[in-house]
Amino acid sequence: MKTLLVTGAAGFIGANFVRRALAQRPDWHIIAFDALTYAGNLENLAGFEECGRFEFVHADICDDAAVAEVLARSVWGVINFAAESHVDRSIQGAADFVRTNVLGTQVLLDQSRRHGVPKFLQVSTDEVYGSLGPVGKFTETSPLAPNSPYSASKASADLLVRAYHETHGLPAVITRCSNNYGPYQFPEKVIPLFITNLLEDQPIPLYGDGLNVRDWIHVWDHCDALLAVLERGQPGEIYNIGAGSELTNLLLTHAILRALGKDESMIRHVKDRPAHDRRYAIDAGKISTQLGWSPRIGFEQGLRDTVRWYVENERWWRSIKSGEYRLYYERQYGAV
Ligand code: NAD
Ligand code: DAU
Repeated sequence: MKTLLVTGAAGFIGANFVRRALAQRPDWHIIAFDALTYAGNLENLAGFEECGRFEFVHADICDDAAVAEVLARSVWGVINFAAESHVDRSIQGAADFVRTNVLGTQVLLDQSRRHGVPKFLQVSTDEVYGSLGPVGKFTETSPLAPNSPYSASKASADLLVRAYHETHGLPAVITRCSNNYGPYQFPEKVIPLFITNLLEDQPIPLYGDGLNVRDWIHVWDHCDALLAVLERGQPGEIYNIGAGSELTNLLLTHAILRALGKDESMIRHVKDRPAHDRRYAIDAGKISTQLGWSPRIGFEQGLRDTVRWYVENERWWRSIKSGEYRLYYERQYGAV
């Protein structure tokens, strides 16, 4: 049995990754490690314990002793999803972003080095490259030029990962993925926010002129790419991950409106996000040629399935929007 430490496992991508890893890798034991911030939701991991290869640890990646305790158990790999992940929140206040994304990553790196962890995967983002003009794509050698406190904290973590590989020989890899969408995404991010607002007959706030471009990938494709990098990625390397589905926010908004049978009158044009990156686009040629990964889910199908998931899982997002989901942990495990 291979034991994998998955930090940030109760969030959107972490939970989808754990679900997929348990289903597709019958010889893996998963330790899901999460501080359960506002973005962590134990309902995302509900039922996993029944397979006997899953356990949940409620702890913070900045807590050196807690990280040391789990890594003392001959962990085969660490995959770090734990982060503050929402750009708008980082503009309101950057302290939590620096603490978790930078300091937390450093704690994980230090303890992984001390315990001789054979694989460390840092889940990073294309936002570290900053913003593109109308042409070109981000490659792994594009310069780091983060524009938000969130992306600056992720870029800082990437530099620490690189340094631990160079200085200490830690077998670490970095992945940089574009915008994810799919089930269990916290409804502050644009796709679930717009879907759930429309389901409640509420308006949807479109920033600026709506012409910013994002390169969308279904979360399951991202998770499969992460499995490929964990198993076949080369230490010290960076792998970009993307599905080549560029869309302006306006086109995305129209697609969501259409899927829910609503019209443009639901759009509220609101003030732009400061330093709003104009365009992201990923060149995923390296992971495709070197690791044989390519995306499987086309955007139209993926969006249709995602809209259906939010329609069918109303209780999940309603309990988040009402704040009730915070009580789930107490019901399951007693007061925090
Ligand atoms: P999320 O906000 O949904 O989940 C983050 C999880 O980390 C939550 O469960 C939260 O409780 C946990 N966490 C936060 N601080 C912690 C701490 N100090 N200790 C332990 N756990 C902590 O985020 P997500 O969208 O699932 O993103 C996961 C990772 O993927 C992040 O590192 C993010 O930068 C990266 N990423 C996200 C996207 C995207 O489109 N969502 C794209 C590329 C990369
Ligand atoms: O590119 C990867 C990144 O994608 C990840 O690293 C981040 O963790 C993730 O949050 C996401 O960042 P974005 O800022 O691109 O995602 P968000 O969903 O916040 O916004 C997507 C686009 O939609 C962006 O151009 C801003 C716009 N937007 C967003 C919100 C929340 C709106 O127009 N209205 C909104 O209400």
